[in-house]
Amino acid sequence: MTPSKRLSNLGVGVFGRNDRRKQDYLFRRSIANLNPLIDLSLGSTDLPPPPVALSAIERALFSSESSAYCLHGATRSFREAVVGWCQRRFGVKVDPDREVLLLIGSQEGTAHFPLTVLDSGDYGLIMDPSYPSHRAGMILADAKIEHLVLKPGFGWRPDFNSLTDAQWDQLKLMIMGFPHNPTAQVGEQSWLDEAMFRGVNHKVVVVHDNPYVDLALEGEAPTLLRTNGWREWGIEFFSFSKAWCLGGFRLAFAVGAEPLISALREVKGAIDFNQSLALQQGAIAALNHAYEWPIKSLNIYRERRDRSLRALELFGWHAPIPTMALYLWLPIPAWAREQNIDDEMLSADLLEKTGVALTPGSGFGSGGSGWLRLALVHPVEILEDAIGRIRSWWNASH
Ligand SMILES: Cc1ncc(COP(=O)(O)O)c(C=O)c1O
Repeated sequence: MTPSKRLSNLGVGVFGRNDRRKQDYLFRRSIANLNPLIDLSLGSTDLPPPPVALSAIERALFSSESSAYCLHGATRSFREAVVGWCQRRFGVKVDPDREVLLLIGSQEGTAHFPLTVLDSGDYGLIMDPSYPSHRAGMILADAKIEHLVLKPGFGWRPDFNSLTDAQWDQLKLMIMGFPHNPTAQVGEQSWLDEAMFRGVNHKVVVVHDNPYVDLALEGEAPTLLRTNGWREWGIEFFSFSKAWCLGGFRLAFAVGAEPLISALREVKGAIDFNQSLALQQGAIAALNHAYEWPIKSLNIYRERRDRSLRALELFGWHAPIPTMALYLWLPIPAWAREQNIDDEMLSADLLEKTGVALTPGSGFGSGGSGWLRLALVHPVEILEDAIGRIRSWWNASH
């Protein structure tokens, strides 16, 4: 079969290669005496979901409605729970019928959304680096991609002036995301305010991917729902995967301008039947009865962050202090640069020699090259074991 151009353009990329290396490592470990794999390459938390959510799912699991297709009308109780959460969380009143949509993960939502706005050859803007589904969604929509390059010297702040007015006028869609994966910076409300200001002035739909909204360690996470203009030009994606620790359950939602929500609903109507009613019961319970759950994890992540940074610094690996939970964003060391070793080569070598898997920053776009992402998704003891192995490898490598 000849793959479509869309599929070829998608490519397996750095992440596909990283996954294959992990599989190879596990295979070699099954026949040789190698360290156990410590996988710090996925933002999939080890922390537990709220028991109240699991109990709600358990109770609903055996109901025949839970195994039936779920039409959009049946998601109303979920949408009403979202309305209550938006009111408590942001003080914003949203309409459950017109401004809320259930998703099967925010990855699904952000990857499908460009199909609603972009025709083949239209221009969409992503940040570089950014979460891969942002780029993938643009490619699947056959869009032309502009990049807003985030730079360390600029505090990873988006420089909206880096595009000319003509470029802004050409855009139909832009995707932002703060707190930001992979740079682990919370960002600021004023950045989103400015994105929305540009969106309104240049008639660009503004998407904000916000699965980490409850995981700011310093400062407050921004939200599109506090900007002027989201009800005409904005849509924001939230997820149960990160702070509610329900990643495998595939639950998320969008809140946004009515025409954008209804357009995404139409696209999804051609593709899926929503998530099971049983899983929605878990999400409803999390929104209504586990409002504080995300906050409990912050001290755990803060300790993981601080102890890991300290352990890395002890042998000379200095990294910026992340202001959000879940990730460290590590510059590749000078000795690797001097040997012309890039982030992908470095992470491959680290995995091969130590069994510790990190993510090469270039997987998030060329703006991430020269960096590695370490996910704080294990208890401190395992993180310290991993960093001990990294230390031996570091000392032997230069
Ligand atoms: C920025 C961003 N968006 C979306 C996702 C995917 O989230 P979900 O599990 O809701 O699909 C991730 C996961 O790492 C992410 O970092």
